[in-house]
Amino acid sequence: MPRILRFAAPLAVTILGLAILAGVAADQLIGRWFQSDLAGRAALIQKTVADEVGRLSSLGDIAGLKRVFDRVAADERVTALGLCASDGSTVAASADWPKAPICAPFDGKVRRSWSRQELAGNAVIVSRFPVPSEGPARAVFTIVQDAGFTERRSLSIVGSFAGVILLIAIAGVLGTAYIVRTMLANWSSALIRTLDPRTPTSEEPEIAPELRPVVAELRQALRDMEVSGPDAHRVKVDWSPETLQALIGRELANSQVIVVSNREPYIHERDESGEITVRRPASGLVTALEPITRACGGVWIAHGSGSADRDVVDSRDRVAVPPEDPSYKLRRVWLTEAEEEGYYYRFANEGLWPLCHIAFVRPKFRREDWEYYKAVNARFADAVVAEAAGPSPIVLVQDYHFALLPRLIRQRLPEATIVTFWHIPWPNSEVFSICPWREEILDGLLGSSILGFHTRFYCNNFIDTVDRFMESHIDRELSTVSTGREATLVDDYPISIEWPPEALAGASSVEVARQTVRERLGIGADVKLGVGVERFDYTKGIPDRLRAVGILFERHPEWIGRFTFVQVAAPTRNKLEAYQGIRSESEQAAEEINSRFARNGWRPIELLIRHHEPAEVMELFRAADLCVVTSLHDGMNLVAKEFVAARDDERGVLVLSTFAGASRELLEALLVNPYDNDGMAEAIDRALKMSEAEQRGRMRMMRELVRDNNVYRWAGSMLLEAARMRRRRAIRKRMVR
Ligand code: G6P
Repeated sequence: MPRILRFAAPLAVTILGLAILAGVAADQLIGRWFQSDLAGRAALIQKTVADEVGRLSSLGDIAGLKRVFDRVAADERVTALGLCASDGSTVAASADWPKAPICAPFDGKVRRSWSRQELAGNAVIVSRFPVPSEGPARAVFTIVQDAGFTERRSLSIVGSFAGVILLIAIAGVLGTAYIVRTMLANWSSALIRTLDPRTPTSEEPEIAPELRPVVAELRQALRDMEVSGPDAHRVKVDWSPETLQALIGRELANSQVIVVSNREPYIHERDESGEITVRRPASGLVTALEPITRACGGVWIAHGSGSADRDVVDSRDRVAVPPEDPSYKLRRVWLTEAEEEGYYYRFANEGLWPLCHIAFVRPKFRREDWEYYKAVNARFADAVVAEAAGPSPIVLVQDYHFALLPRLIRQRLPEATIVTFWHIPWPNSEVFSICPWREEILDGLLGSSILGFHTRFYCNNFIDTVDRFMESHIDRELSTVSTGREATLVDDYPISIEWPPEALAGASSVEVARQTVRERLGIGADVKLGVGVERFDYTKGIPDRLRAVGILFERHPEWIGRFTFVQVAAPTRNKLEAYQGIRSESEQAAEEINSRFARNGWRPIELLIRHHEPAEVMELFRAADLCVVTSLHDGMNLVAKEFVAARDDERGVLVLSTFAGASRELLEALLVNPYDNDGMAEAIDRALKMSEAEQRGRMRMMRELVRDNNVYRWAGSMLLEAARMRRRRAIRKRMVR
């Protein structure tokens, strides 16, 4: 029922009831008026002719009486007149004297009387007057008047009266409803505009005095709601691109989202034949952020590193991606070779990367690299400012390449909401203090509104580092750090993958994948398969893992000829010595083990050093009996989650390093110490022997977790927090005023 009817219908019914009651009362009143009018007339007639009737009656002049009666009955409102005898007979009467009996016998004294009677369906008023005589009356002078006429008149008056009342009632109801509705609409839009953080202060509407207490109450309630601790994002929601889009539409409508990362999500390369191909890089960050940016739209700013990148951009260095179905803009920033060398290879990857990972590779810090790092961060700040459509975009700054960027953006766009995510571990304060520019880096990061890490452990390390090296106010309960006016929320947001993964849609069945992969790699159908998939990075623990496979064959020779380990290693940061070293160390380890154990066409290790596209990785995961992720140190490690997501058959075992952030969530994996090669060999043996029922039980639990804690939740939690901050800031601004 429309809302207005809910209000108007009862009012209309009440008014209608009152109108009917008033009509009935009016009818009775008017009826009485008409009847007394008729009685008065009858009395007047009687008075006028009484003497004449008395005289003629005593003379017994019937003809005279009839003449008198006919004369008087000429009046249109008099129906008939007559004289009744005491025996009930009619002595004399006018021409229209009714056929139905009017006279009734009487004896003794007759009083004047007046009654309403029905005569052949007509209502009449009969008035009786005793004809004066000595002693008891001998005759009754009777006047019959038409009452139907008065009743018809009364009815039409009452009808008109009720109609007028009804019209007034309807007009009243509609008028009142309209006034109430308009008032409510005005009040509620004024309330909404006042409480909406996006309403510029100058455009805040005037609030009616009677509503001011309500506004004050609502503001208090909002304030209470806004006080959210570090756990505020842990709400159970089924996260998907749709929920994320709905969240952005609801909470961040009209807010521009700008993503900044070093690595671009699509790299355009020109191959030997001159053709341009598009490659998706091996990067956990890109894997996580790409589906999010697709869901949000917006702009992604990144280093244009592909050989054909410049050939496909527009005049503003932008290209729409994904190429097959564009949904956001990729804005490329060009770096000179020297800049790339100093900022990316050296400061970020020879300094900060080993500093934050416990992999026992010595970090290298050089002043000239730091200068490049600062300059490139400033270049990206320029790009953010250029891309910002207004003063308060939401900027999602990614990773250790841009530690200075949050502060640089804050200085130029003070109203921006800056959400920075550090995709790698944060070391303890002692280790971090190795960096000669530690204060600058901490200050740069504290320009963020929100600073996210994968685990609580890294958050605590960061807060301890700030505590040790900066003049700051730290609220450990709210997990906020401030060195100036604006506090930074430091919170953990475990990154994840899209669910279900895009590559799963086109994937072949597990059976087909097992067969295809075995045929392609020349592995026998009865040989069990283990896989490892990573960038060729020293933090991934590849040589140790290969050595563990060797130990497995030594300790459990029954696996010789019955188990092959396939290691996919995508070349990365090749220019750096430490990376060249890890490659040769791994190749050597694989060769050694292969030469020791290979026989009859079977090889224990297949080392595939090339980039694999997501579909190929998916096929490998589905073909495998186990997946080994034994990073020496890893912020999260999405390969572990991808393997779990790939196994919709609920089979396969995950062997996972306790030093990967993922081990805090995937507790049903076989957790191992990547420095303990013997322990890893035993874990692989256990995985190979694990019953199908146990595999299913463990895999099911892990799949539930990855499904619920997917990448949409990761981004959604941060964006929700960002939206809250924006509301809080707007409210605070208004309060201060
Ligand atoms: C890690 C970093 C990312 C980086 C990725 C690939 O996951 O956290 O920021 O993109 O490695 O490394 P690359 O240097 O090739 O971008």
